[in-house]
Amino acid sequence: MIKIELKHLFSPGKIGNVQIKNRIVRSATYERRAMKYGIVSDKLIELYRELAEGGTGLIITGAIGIDPKATGGPDQPYLFDDSHMEGQRKLVKEVHNYSDTKIAAQFVHTGRQGTHPKYTSVAPSPIEDKSTNKIPKELATEEIEKIVQNFVVATRRAYECEYDMVQMHGAHGYLLSNFISPYTNIRTDEYGGSTEKRAKILVDIYNHARDEVGKDFPILIKLQIDDDIPSGLKLEEGIKIAKIMVDTGYNAIEPSGGIGESISLNKNPLPSRFVKSPDDENYFLDSAKKLKPIMKDCPLILVGGVRNPLSAEKILQEKHADFISLSRPLIYEPDLPNRWKSGDLSPAKCLSCNSCFMTMMTGEVYCVVKKKLEKKRLKKEKQKN
Ligand SMILES: Cc1cc2nc3c(=O)[nH]c(=O)nc-3n(C[C@H](O)[C@H](O)[C@H](O)COP(=O)(O)O)c2cc1C
Repeated sequence: MIKIELKHLFSPGKIGNVQIKNRIVRSATYERRAMKYGIVSDKLIELYRELAEGGTGLIITGAIGIDPKATGGPDQPYLFDDSHMEGQRKLVKEVHNYSDTKIAAQFVHTGRQGTHPKYTSVAPSPIEDKSTNKIPKELATEEIEKIVQNFVVATRRAYECEYDMVQMHGAHGYLLSNFISPYTNIRTDEYGGSTEKRAKILVDIYNHARDEVGKDFPILIKLQIDDDIPSGLKLEEGIKIAKIMVDTGYNAIEPSGGIGESISLNKNPLPSRFVKSPDDENYFLDSAKKLKPIMKDCPLILVGGVRNPLSAEKILQEKHADFISLSRPLIYEPDLPNRWKSGDLSPAKCLSCNSCFMTMMTGEVYCVVKKKLEKKRLKKEKQKN
């Protein structure tokens, strides 16, 4: 049998000055495995060890809370207080001990989609969320500046915990994407109006965080490029915003799209970033092709339905992306990169059924399909004996 070599997928790449051993990224995935008060638990560390052992080049953590009033839900890890650092440090150390895997901390402020039981959700403008009928509170300028500061202080803490880099969550209808969208931001001050003004918060976060951690610590962004709702952000403007991010100095962009409301407005069963059909492979590839020409030397991380190592190899070879990124496939197969590296080039076992996404509503995130198969196998084994 001829062994096909995935020369590009398994060649090292750089984000800023940090070398990544291959081009496979674990896209941020909320796990619901932290302890009370956002403290990292042993089972969370165990999950990251498994991912590191599985051969991923760069792991991006599930979204970490950076503002006590805008955390993402139960069992989320936080980094808005020094008391969160000990556990985070342990997690990073474990990943680094197990392999030469790099790890980035992803930071989120939930913004308009906030579900905190005690605090009202906030946003650039008081536009009703049609999926919840909630109207968020409009942020005052000083409150925006405080939020910028929260992202910056969390970046410094991540740096001190020896994370290799950080990623700002600027997508999926959370606060930073609320600012860049003309649908959710109708402000008339310095943070609203033109594309540049709507992107100002992202520029401010980068510049202040850069001052805090120096030039060698990569700062990435998961960037909304399309809200997937009629009056929302469209790709054409998403590309303009990506250009602003590149010119600002962000060290890599992972384009994404869809907001919580796209479910009710588009009658989609789930936001557009989650697709049901296995035919919808590489569903941000067309957008990536349009983005690439403005990216200069800034790496593009392609996420969304990447399942087949041969098409991933082709995407990298044709330079439509610099890295590929996986979320759901690594929930099913944390060792998928090693499987592909060993020569088993069958696509990811993930069916894109989104059962993992649904588990997030009730407890720890896991792959329902895999669990069912495992149960069946155990039952058969028992019957044999
Ligand atoms: C269970 C689950 C949790 C997720 N949590 C996050 C998150 O914390 N931050 C984020 O930016 N994206 C999150 N995502 C989106 C993924 O990072 C990714 O963009 C999306 O699933 C598409 O990639 P895939 O086709 O490889 O799954 C999550 C997705 C799933 C399924």
